[in-house]
Amino acid sequence: MSRRILAAGNWKMNKTPSEATALINELKEKVSNAKNEVLVCPPFVCIPDVCRVAAGTNISVGAQNLYYEDKGAYTGEVSAQMLLDLGVKYVIIGHSERREYFNETNDIVNKKVIQAIKNNLIPVICVGETLEQREDGVTFDFIRTQVKIALRSVCAQDAANLVIAYEPIWAIGTGKVATSEQANEVCADIRRCIAGIYDENTAQSIRILYGGSVNKDCAAELFAMSDIDGGLVGGASLKAEDFSIIADA
Ligand code: 13P
Repeated sequence: MSRRILAAGNWKMNKTPSEATALINELKEKVSNAKNEVLVCPPFVCIPDVCRVAAGTNISVGAQNLYYEDKGAYTGEVSAQMLLDLGVKYVIIGHSERREYFNETNDIVNKKVIQAIKNNLIPVICVGETLEQREDGVTFDFIRTQVKIALRSVCAQDAANLVIAYEPIWAIGTGKVATSEQANEVCADIRRCIAGIYDENTAQSIRILYGGSVNKDCAAELFAMSDIDGGLVGGASLKAEDFSIIADA
């Protein structure tokens, strides 16, 4: 089964709406013939402008979070329907920064995944171990737990369409990229885990990205690995030139 490579940019808390508009205007020219699927995930307040400027281009738009309730008295939260109404297609769920700074547990991640699927948003579920866990030799167990709980009550058909991003926490924003072999062996294990929960077909159709200091120089080697289907890119996605190279890697 051939899985299209996905180059996803997670802008995190960067770019004002005007800066975002300028970046997309620059990016859309540079990626118009990109080999890979191109996705940008700007902050909520930039999404209307980004959707407007990206309309009719090959750039898809994602959000960095959502809330798991439909609507109501949840001050400060953003619903799936709000995102969908703007033209958002993907949503990042369970990024390690949200788990660490905003106390997102595996159960919360699971509720958000279910809410995204229910509303036809494609979840990009983030998993990844700390340096301490890696050194303790519990990486695979830890990540399998994250994957299994995130996918609780998700059927095979829905799972086949979603994206998982393996982001070792020690590689995020540190300039310390995992080696292609290190990244691939975890992505391959995530795929085996999916095959165990569902079946081999589902495992072969799900896209598994690597994230953590992906840059224009290492992307091609990472994306060529057997079980890596693209990248979730932080810092390098904020520069049109760099991200366009990754979009073609
Ligand atoms: P960096 O590419 O800046 O390391 O960030 C990775 C990341 O967390 C993407 O979600």
